[in-house]
Amino acid sequence: MSKNTVILVTGCGSGIGLALANLLYKKMDYRVIITARVKSLPMLKEKFIESDRFLIRKLDLTNESQRAAVVSEVAELWGGVTVLINNAGVSYRAVVEHMSVDEEQHQFATNYFGPVGLIRSVLPHMRKIGRGKIINVSSVSGMLAMPTMGSYSASKYALEGLSEALWYELKPLGINVSLIQPGFVHSKSFLNVKYSILSGPENDIEGLYADYYQHMTPFIERLMKLSLTSPNDIAVRILKVIERKNPPLWIPATLDAQVFYYLRRFIPRRILLNLLFSALPNVRKWARKYTNSA
Ligand SMILES: NC(=O)c1ccc[n+]([C@@H]2O[C@H](COP(=O)([O-])OP(=O)(O)OC[C@H]3O[C@@H](n4cnc5c(N)ncnc54)[C@H](OP(=O)(O)O)[C@@H]3O)[C@@H](O)[C@H]2O)c1
Repeated sequence: MSKNTVILVTGCGSGIGLALANLLYKKMDYRVIITARVKSLPMLKEKFIESDRFLIRKLDLTNESQRAAVVSEVAELWGGVTVLINNAGVSYRAVVEHMSVDEEQHQFATNYFGPVGLIRSVLPHMRKIGRGKIINVSSVSGMLAMPTMGSYSASKYALEGLSEALWYELKPLGINVSLIQPGFVHSKSFLNVKYSILSGPENDIEGLYADYYQHMTPFIERLMKLSLTSPNDIAVRILKVIERKNPPLWIPATLDAQVFYYLRRFIPRRILLNLLFSALPNVRKWARKYTNSA
């Protein structure tokens, strides 16, 4: 690894992206471009000093012209991106019936179409030099879905499917693809959860889906608080993938992610589905007053 390694990271305004920016700032051998949406740039510029090897740029990854501008600036300065880290993401918390088409589109624009757009624009350079790495930050939600997180899961499943196909397509070209799959991370990122118009706490939801939100929201927050894995631990994991010659495609990145990874492989899906259903808090009581089911 050397200055020929040019790393582009998305979503550096908080959490895993910011932790990774901290680590890469000290890695003098790499050229690094960290990116974030405009509102996070002042904080990043205060924290890091730009140099001939470390740049801070605006990138809303749902914006095609911003994606093109960043990639072409890197091409002009340093030849092109050799390691792309698609880290930025959003997570809607809503049952499927409470999501609108616009909200589904926003979920997918950030977690799927943005990352895929970036992948397409960095690949020509990687193909030309015959090496490169695409590192997509997925989630346990890309292996198993949970109630109230259907749209988020769908976006991560989509990213997983694409990454698997890409792995085959790019292996003959010397380009590696990896999926980092964190489970629950001890961070404040649950504060960044997005609500749909119909699922937001301001709706003071009553009725059919009230139990789902009432039990799932604290359940998820509790699991995040109990997690022993910090954003920095995930960033260290990503750094190892950057430095490893042939990293694997799937990288479960927390203890729970490893457990789920193996459960999914060794327990028949039909049985696992029912086991996980039973583990949901108070699930037997959910929507009891509102259903005709026996
Ligand atoms: N935390 C967990 O428990 C967990 C578990 C599994 C997977 N993950 C995945 O890990 C990745 C990082 O999440 P995190 O935990 O670090 O959460 P986070 O602190 O909420 O960070 C997400 C970052 O994505 C950025 N972002 C959102 N929309 C964007 C857009 N349109 N363009 C550019 N950047 C955008 C946010 O930027 P702003 O600051 O500008 O909003 C933020 O910096 C995500 O892909 C997430 O799905 C997290």
